[in-house]
Amino acid sequence: MDKIRLGFIGCGKIAQVRHIPEAHRREDVILAGYFNRTRKKAEDMASQYGGKVYDTYQEMLEDEHIDAVVVSVANILHADVTIEALKKGKHVLCEKPMAMTLEESELMVKTAEEEGKVLAIGHNQRLNSAHERARELIEEGAIGKVLTFRTTFGHGGPEEWSSSPGKDVWFFYEDAAGMGAMADLGIHKTDLIEFLTGQKVVEVSAMMGTLDKKGSKGNLISVDDNAICLFKMSEGALGTMTVSWTYYGPEDNSTVIYGSEGILSVYEDPDHPLKIVKKNGEVLTFEVDEMQTNDNQTSSGVIDVFIDGIRSGEDTILSGKVILSAMRAVFACEQSFDEGKTVKIEENGGMKA
Ligand SMILES: NC(=O)c1ccc[n+]([C@@H]2O[C@H](COP(=O)([O-])OP(=O)(O)OC[C@H]3O[C@@H](n4cnc5c(N)ncnc54)[C@H](O)[C@@H]3O)[C@@H](O)[C@H]2O)c1
Repeated sequence: MDKIRLGFIGCGKIAQVRHIPEAHRREDVILAGYFNRTRKKAEDMASQYGGKVYDTYQEMLEDEHIDAVVVSVANILHADVTIEALKKGKHVLCEKPMAMTLEESELMVKTAEEEGKVLAIGHNQRLNSAHERARELIEEGAIGKVLTFRTTFGHGGPEEWSSSPGKDVWFFYEDAAGMGAMADLGIHKTDLIEFLTGQKVVEVSAMMGTLDKKGSKGNLISVDDNAICLFKMSEGALGTMTVSWTYYGPEDNSTVIYGSEGILSVYEDPDHPLKIVKKNGEVLTFEVDEMQTNDNQTSSGVIDVFIDGIRSGEDTILSGKVILSAMRAVFACEQSFDEGKTVKIEENGGMKA
């Protein structure tokens, strides 16, 4: 296959610090075009990396010289733009959260299948070497049967991260973000816990709240800034997921899995990113990469998975079909909180309070 000509729909922070530089490092990719609703960001990328600036994303999708697109616009637009792009014959890498409803998420997957195109979702946590190694260790039985877990993702919020920073950042508005910390961070850890344990979330109970984040006028924001969820997994493991935009200090990206033969921790011990403490007290540590944080951007590997997926035609570790399961659990958590009930996820993907 010739070089893949990639277009970027949304040239905000994630495109600027990850997707565009990661694509630029590949010799088999041409950075062909950019769209951003404030044109200046697209122009900046074009002048730095080369390629065309489009006035609308539809114009990019009509262009037969574009083979694939990276969708990294505000959450609320993910599904519509992705489906439109797939229907125009483009492969799509879409940022998380995949969509705002389960129906939209399912339609994205169905459209990719119908069109025979790759749909990947930007779940970089799956590709992190500590998480990859932890999954292998758990699979090999290093901590025995997984019994319980806790997984956390918390930092001080997205207001300084965004390429349009400030107290009124779009992440804080329901009409642009859909959900708050739950969708922004919770989707990462919901998916991660399924990835690590090899089990699906089958039952959830969730509390969400807007505790502290305020817009410039002093009003609380319209989406959640904290969520705490209880998960029951398909083989019986129980655990918690905590996500927060109000950890005003160091970021917490830790996961601890308690098994019948020992405890595995990732990013819990500052000196050892991946550690196992066996039942008999033996301590095992492993050489792995640091986690990417907002302040420490290392290569995520997401673009590599996407491009390799286009070349191979095989399903990837980030494929929309795989991520659907975690989306189900996130929407179940929303339902649980809204209705004040535990929600079961049925085998056919339905939900029952
Ligand atoms: N995988 C990850 O770890 C990760 C990390 C950060 C962001 N993201 C996701 O990437 C996407 C883009 O986020 P970002 O960090 O680049 O943010 P950003 O604020 O820097 O950029 C936002 C982008 O969305 C566009 N946009 C479209 N409609 C908008 C609206 N109504 N309000 C504001 N902006 C609008 C902007 O033009 C810009 O291109 C989001 O979906 C976010 O969840 C993923």
